[in-house]
Amino acid sequence: MLRLDGKVVLITGLGQTTEEGWGIGAAIAAKLAQQGALIYGGNRSLASAQRTKARIEEAGGVCDVQETNVTDSASVEALVDACMRKHGRIDILVNNVGKSEPGCPATMAEDVWDAQVDLNLKSIYLTCHYVLPIMEKQATGGSVVNVSSIAGLRYIGKPQVAYSATKAAIMQFTKATAVIYADKNVRLNTVVPGLIYTPYTQQLAKRYAPGGDEEEYMRKRDAQVPMGRMGDAWDVANAAVFLASDEARYITGQELVVDGGITSSTGRV
Ligand SMILES: NC(=O)c1ccc[n+]([C@@H]2O[C@H](COP(=O)([O-])OP(=O)(O)OC[C@H]3O[C@@H](n4cnc5c(N)ncnc54)[C@H](OP(=O)(O)O)[C@@H]3O)[C@@H](O)[C@H]2O)c1
Repeated sequence: MLRLDGKVVLITGLGQTTEEGWGIGAAIAAKLAQQGALIYGGNRSLASAQRTKARIEEAGGVCDVQETNVTDSASVEALVDACMRKHGRIDILVNNVGKSEPGCPATMAEDVWDAQVDLNLKSIYLTCHYVLPIMEKQATGGSVVNVSSIAGLRYIGKPQVAYSATKAAIMQFTKATAVIYADKNVRLNTVVPGLIYTPYTQQLAKRYAPGGDEEEYMRKRDAQVPMGRMGDAWDVANAAVFLASDEARYITGQELVVDGGITSSTGRV
């Protein structure tokens, strides 16, 4: 089940920013490599991409990385070209890069709004712009997995309007493109993480914890989830691997929500 031997994966945002823990992109890359896929990754900082590369190689996997800015067309094109020069094909594209900035329309500065749209949404247009024509020409087609967030489905307790709007847009971008590419043997799906414990979540705690009480911030996040705990990067990676795999060959234009039940609940009384 879920073997991906020899499949070529292009993934963005696979960097591991800290020595401890696993980010979502790093875990997806590691899990895909564990299933036999060859990883080619683009990340803003080369140092964090190399941390993921080392972890994958230590476990016997194959991973190349290069510095990439996913908001820059030339940089994305260079990433795709380098992957094609190395492997001659791209079977799986994973768009993982994303970040939340706080604010409502009145408080958010225009440049912050624009940067959020570029990072969370335009980045996915750019990778698809260069990769879909390649997948379409391959006899075995391809599979795209985009990483959204339950913030694109619900208000999740803090104003982050650009993040919510762009994460919702990813889902519809994916659906519409999935229909266009359905008869070309290219599938596109979205994985929708809920509250996930990653190094990024630790940064959020530093930024948002009232009175700097990070433990209490984490406890509150756990308590919001019907399962009583946040997920981890592996929960998201397992869903992404399934959507990328041939076992999901009849699934396209869908969202797989990985949230411990939170979007099915209106909270406890
Ligand atoms: N953590 C959660 O609770 C949660 C919940 C729902 C959805 N998500 C989504 O899951 C995805 C990953 O989240 P995460 O928590 O794993 O975040 P993360 O650890 O911050 O990973 C994001 C990665 O993207 C890279 N990156 C940032 N800007 C980039 C750019 N312009 N070009 C190329 N790479 C860039 C970062 O590089 P550097 O190493 O240089 O920083 C980092 O490696 C995001 O789309 C996020 O919205 C997360």
